[in-house]
Amino acid sequence: MDKDIQEVLFTADQIQERIRQLGQELTRDYEGKFPVVVGVLKGVVVFYADMVRQIQTHCQMDFMTISSYQGTQSTGNMVVKGDISADLKGRHVLVLEDIYDTGNSLTFVREHLLSKEPASLKICTLFDKPERRKPGITLQADYVGFTIPNAFVVGYGLDYNEKYRNLPYVGILKPEIYQ
Ligand code: IMP
Ligand code: MG
Repeated sequence: MDKDIQEVLFTADQIQERIRQLGQELTRDYEGKFPVVVGVLKGVVVFYADMVRQIQTHCQMDFMTISSYQGTQSTGNMVVKGDISADLKGRHVLVLEDIYDTGNSLTFVREHLLSKEPASLKICTLFDKPERRKPGITLQADYVGFTIPNAFVVGYGLDYNEKYRNLPYVGILKPEIYQ
C-alpha cells in the first residue's frame, strides 16, 4: 500500500466485481443501440477502460475535458476545454464519470451534451457522494458503482494534486498529506 494512504476503501478486486455487475446492466440496457460512451477526463480514464470492456455490445468511445474557474462565487464556473468529436444528434449517450460530488461538473456536462440533441442521455458514475450535493441539484446518476460517505478519496483515476491516479485501489489519504 502507498505510504500516504490511511485506509483502503475498495480493493482492485472489489472494484472489478462491481464493474462486472454494472457491465451486465449496461449490456442489457444498450444492446443493439450502439451508444456513444462519453468519458469526462482525466479522472475517469482508469474506470473508463475497465467499464467499456464489460459492455458486451458495440459502443463508440469519446471524451471531453472540462475545467472550472474558481471565482468569488461558491458555484464553480465550468467551461469545455476539449469537446467530443462524435455527432450526438439522435444517438444514445452514456456519460461515464469517476465521482459525483457537488454535482457542478455533471450538471454542466449534461446540459452541454443535451444541447447536441441526443436520443437519450444517461449517467454512470463509479462513486457517488450524495452528502456533498449542492442544494438545488436534483440530478441523479442512472448507474452508481458505490455510494460513499463524505471523504476525499484517491486512486483508480482519482487524484490529489495530480498524484495517486495510478493506484489500483481507492483509499483515503493520511490527514498530514493535505497540509
Ligand atoms: P463535482 O463537480 O463537485 O461533482 O466534482 C466532480 C469532480 O471533482 C470529479 O470528477 C473529481 O475530479 C473531483 N472530485 C470530487 N470528489 C473527489 C474525491 O474525493 N477525490 C478526488 N477527486 C474528487
Ligand atoms: Mg473528474
